Amino acid sequence: MSAARLVVLVSGNGSNLQAVLDGCASGELRAQVVAVISDKPDAFGLERARRAGIPAVAQPKLATQDRAAYDSALAAQVATFKPDWIVLAGWMRLLSAKLLDRFPGQVINLHPALPEMFPGTHAIERALDAYQRGEIACTGVMVHLVPDEGVDCGPVLAQQVVAIEPNDSLETLAARIHATEHNLLVSTLNSLVTH
Ligand code: GRF
Repeated sequence: MSAARLVVLVSGNGSNLQAVLDGCASGELRAQVVAVISDKPDAFGLERARRAGIPAVAQPKLATQDRAAYDSALAAQVATFKPDWIVLAGWMRLLSAKLLDRFPGQVINLHPALPEMFPGTHAIERALDAYQRGEIACTGVMVHLVPDEGVDCGPVLAQQVVAIEPNDSLETLAARIHATEHNLLVSTLNSLVTH
């Protein structure tokens, strides 16, 4: 069986992309990243792809494009790489049906919170605030399918609780969350590609 083909979409640093690249390189993850695409031409994730010798495509939304036109163009670009799975790893644009309907059941998102908790941006910060107000005892991370335009929701593939410590700062909690994400993303992808 040939290795599953992953197209990874990133908007920023790409530490989760790096975990996937490292997992593929070590053989821990039986897959290959065939392209990395970013809406932000200066995203460090693109540089990580170049360093790994993988096609790195900058695809910013043009002023002439509305959301549907951008998503259609993005879908066409993604399709050229014939992906088995499309991984949103710190991808900060909401995707519409123009892309999602072209890849049904193939789009996976990573979110730094537990299901139904803190959808959208600044999830780690909002979890820490909620903890400090005594509203939650812990937070977590999840990997889920993206069936539609809902924000950070969809069938959950994996989730993991992450402790919040009384003396956590945003930096210490974010570091614990990201380390958990890196492991959970690679292990979840591995179970998808080996089934
Ligand atoms: C991660 O926390 C991911 O869950 C969220 O954005 C962050 C991306 O981090 N959607 P990185 O770019 O992979 O370092």
